[in-house]
Amino acid sequence: MKRDDIGELELLRQEIEILKKTNIQLQEVGDDLERENQLLKTILDSIHEGVYATDEKGKIILYNREVEKTEGLKRSDVLGKKETDVYSYISENNFYEAVTEKVMKTVKPLIEHHYKYYLPNGKRNDILINAFPFFYQEKLAGVYTVGRDVKTIGEFISNTLVMQRKLTMEENNPANVKGARYLLDHIIGDSKEMKETVALARKVAGHSSPILIVGETGTGKELFAQGIHNASLFAKGPFVPVNCAAIPDSLLESILFGTVKGAFTGAVDIPGLFEQAENGTIFLDEINSMPFSLQAKLLRVLQDKVVRRIGSKTETPINTRIISATNVDPFVAVQEQVIRSDLFFRLATVTIDIPPLRERKNDIHVLGHYFIRKFNDKFGIFVKGISRDLIKPFEHYYWPGNVRELENIIESGMNFVEHQDDELDLEHLPMYFQERLLKTKEISKYMPGIQGTLRSNLQEFEKRLIYDALLRNSWNITRTAQELGILRQNLQHKIKVLNLQKENR
Ligand SMILES: Nc1ncnc2c1ncn2[C@@H]1O[C@H](COP(=O)(O)OP(=O)(O)OP(=O)(O)O)[C@@H](O)[C@H]1O
Ligand SMILES: [Mg+2]
Repeated sequence: MKRDDIGELELLRQEIEILKKTNIQLQEVGDDLERENQLLKTILDSIHEGVYATDEKGKIILYNREVEKTEGLKRSDVLGKKETDVYSYISENNFYEAVTEKVMKTVKPLIEHHYKYYLPNGKRNDILINAFPFFYQEKLAGVYTVGRDVKTIGEFISNTLVMQRKLTMEENNPANVKGARYLLDHIIGDSKEMKETVALARKVAGHSSPILIVGETGTGKELFAQGIHNASLFAKGPFVPVNCAAIPDSLLESILFGTVKGAFTGAVDIPGLFEQAENGTIFLDEINSMPFSLQAKLLRVLQDKVVRRIGSKTETPINTRIISATNVDPFVAVQEQVIRSDLFFRLATVTIDIPPLRERKNDIHVLGHYFIRKFNDKFGIFVKGISRDLIKPFEHYYWPGNVRELENIIESGMNFVEHQDDELDLEHLPMYFQERLLKTKEISKYMPGIQGTLRSNLQEFEKRLIYDALLRNSWNITRTAQELGILRQNLQHKIKVLNLQKENR
């Protein structure tokens, strides 16, 4: 063989090697894609929502197991077929026109759409769906729909209400220690702010006006709600808490107001939580998460003191104290149209603001020692207290999770105190928290030229930060509070305490 031939052969061999490698890589990518595809298919088939999709021509391209179950059809019989060929459209308002085409035309989702249609065997189906357009390579490529059988929703609501009724009855049974077990006396706090807040709560507990409790997460809103209930004329009645953020929007109305048989498939005669709270207190937690449309109905309940079960023609008068709570600034929520202003004024006949823990340093001491005693009793140990070295960084820490965070940290640290009568110290706390405390301490390093205690430095830093933000926002309180991520009332309080004035500096 000639030299040139050998050279070419070698080149060819190298090319083959490269092609082989590329092939292996492509195969790996293919394997990964296949695995991901398989995983997604498995997930789609294991969820309780029906998922269904059509391409831009109305051809069915996705049909999960839940849809198979509710429609009684086989995936293999519908996939690849046109929607209009699969379903018999007795009603003029068919799925294609009512949903698919609408979403394709408007390129906007359809949310919480109640849709009734007929299956090929003539049976009627009721579903509650959300339908969305989907895009491929920036082009509209079809519509996907996620939905639930209304019958299962009805059953779910009934089960939830029955369960809640049982719970309410159990919890409000005096022989049971659960339920609204906190009294206002159980609220620990030595600071002027906390004493004033508890005094206000005690004063308004005796009236029947609605109360809005505002405070960051972990400041004790639920504690106050229970305390007020127990100090009120409604104390003998039930305390019914509802977390508006935890209940799906589409169910909240039925859960609050109840349903009557026939209101929709699966609906039964059952009182809602308002009726369950008769002669007691209903605690509407995270009220800012309540859908806007439902807020209008709640406003009517507050004004007329009657509720109407869904599907009912009659109204039932109610005698229930309403306490609501929010951990977002309600003024901002009203401004951003998350809370209706008319509802807000009704709910907030009395407002109780619970200050964050960082603003009541005294309480860090008393609460800290209170939690040490609590966990000593619980664990059967004798931790003496909190060391001086730990109390200092505790005072300067920001406590974003407020009292709950303090309680959790103390509980966690007490597990690591080795000798019975030692004090709780920095080294007992989880590593991540030790690091956080140390970082807080380092802030003063960023303020060269300023001397004195960490507390005075922090205050100076806070003052500067707030003043600059106020200037930037032309002293608009709502905007400044938003920028600083604090409640409007907190900002007003700080302006007063730090003595900030427009002509300052
Ligand atoms: N002043 C206090 N005295 C004693 N315990 C308190 C106090 N404040 C809060 N706690 C405790 O802190 C924890 C959190 O309180 P709670 O659940 O009432 O807070 P929350 O404001 O409702 O929080 P979230 O907004 O996260 O729901 C609870 O274990 C509660 O007992
Ligand atoms: Mg709470």
